[in-house]
Amino acid sequence: MRQKIIAGNWKMNTTLEEGIQLLQAIAVQIKDNTAQVIICPPHTHLASFNDNKDVHKQILIGAQNCADEACGAYTGDISVAMIQPFVKFCIVGHSERRSYHGETNESIKAKIDLLLQHQIQPIFCCGESLEERNNEVHFELVESQIAAALFHLDESSIAQIIIAYEPIWAIGTGHTASSAQAQEMHAFIRSLIAKKYSSAIADRISIIYGGSCNASNAMELFAQSDIDGGLIGGASLKAEEFIKIIQAAN
Ligand code: 13P
Repeated sequence: MRQKIIAGNWKMNTTLEEGIQLLQAIAVQIKDNTAQVIICPPHTHLASFNDNKDVHKQILIGAQNCADEACGAYTGDISVAMIQPFVKFCIVGHSERRSYHGETNESIKAKIDLLLQHQIQPIFCCGESLEERNNEVHFELVESQIAAALFHLDESSIAQIIIAYEPIWAIGTGHTASSAQAQEMHAFIRSLIAKKYSSAIADRISIIYGGSCNASNAMELFAQSDIDGGLIGGASLKAEEFIKIIQAAN
């Protein structure tokens, strides 16, 4: 059976103090969950969360982004080597990075290579805009994002990738994709992996959904055969709600 994953993307929210409190509030409520729980806080929290691993034993930590160069004159950027002591995962290609920071498939591909070299599992985001869906080019678009960023990888590397399907029109809008819409795209993504690699590899890769996922819609989404959990934004900032989402994946 594929690993179910519930990842919280805190985005640019919480001071360090607030982050420590939120992490603790989530950690104390996690029971014997079978889903892998990942929290991706701001970079400023990573060292402190790592120092306090004992209080969140069942939660793994990820970063929200990394630089596409190994080191050098890139003011304000954070390299993969810098986050490596603190994280097992790193989100790459989030639509907010693509649109507000002009990230291209090329730079996302470079980040993925650097992460894999440092034994960090990329959580690779893909997904279409509302206009692309309305124009019925959403499958093409997602296929092109995946092919450009991932299809240079060999079999053992692709198996390290977690794919997050995040339709842009569903992010932070309250308009979640229906379970049928999400399942359709997840099955399509899995079929792309099967075609390029093998169905054995496609069956092993966790494909998670992101976009207005909350405690009310999580169970139906996660019940779909190709939806292996969620990448949660707003609802991961409320401990009670995030716990309910984690429980919905069990
Ligand atoms: P929301 O859950 O707030 O819609 O955000 C989803 C997301 O972008 C997670 O990466």
